[in-house]
Amino acid sequence: MRVRIAPSILAADFARLADEIARVESAGADLIHVDVMDGHFVPNITIGPPVVASLRRATRLPLDVHLMIEDPDRYLEAFAQAGASGITVHAEATRHLHRTLTRVRELGATPGVALNPSTPVDAIRDVLGLFDLLLIMSVNPGFGGQTFIPRSVQKIALARTLIAGSGSAADIEVDGGVDTGNAAALALAGATILVAGASIFGTPDPAAATRSLRAAAGR
Ligand code: DX5
Ligand code: ZN
Repeated sequence: MRVRIAPSILAADFARLADEIARVESAGADLIHVDVMDGHFVPNITIGPPVVASLRRATRLPLDVHLMIEDPDRYLEAFAQAGASGITVHAEATRHLHRTLTRVRELGATPGVALNPSTPVDAIRDVLGLFDLLLIMSVNPGFGGQTFIPRSVQKIALARTLIAGSGSAADIEVDGGVDTGNAAALALAGATILVAGASIFGTPDPAAATRSLRAAAGR
């Protein structure tokens, strides 16, 4: 499966988001990854639906919204209305994951489930088929620029086996510490979407970095 590149705007200049996105869009980025943090589920605060609505007007690329918030059900409708193409919730942050994923699909967005590094892949077993994207966190969520956790590669491979066995064609997205040094191993293990913040927007030339990451993924 072709690997898609999702630059994370967490590492971009928030005062110039439209320009930053235009740079990676012109370089062939496939999705824009938007990190929403509430200061409760993770120890950081970022942005909410109004910014997503503005981004929706600034790019044609799908907006891949990663909710790192407690009780995400309260905000699903707001993010869907703001123009989120995909809405990913953390399995650890919602009591009724089955209901939450079903609701995201009803709202017309692509449902995704995210797992923290300490959450076993087994957490998705009973919701296989209800999500189109599994986000494997390869750092503890909350901040950009952290060090990749090597065990994530095995976790992706395990998740790929589980997903394929269920007959699902869900994407596996990997998020945290992704760069040209680990992209090939991640793609080989079964990742189909690479999120990258620091290794794209933390460089002097985000467009070149986007192209390099795709080349490094090798597919
Ligand atoms: C971390 C976020 C990531 C973050 C990745 O909690 O979910 O999307 O932007 O940043 P890098 O690529 O810098 O590790
Ligand atoms: Zn993210």
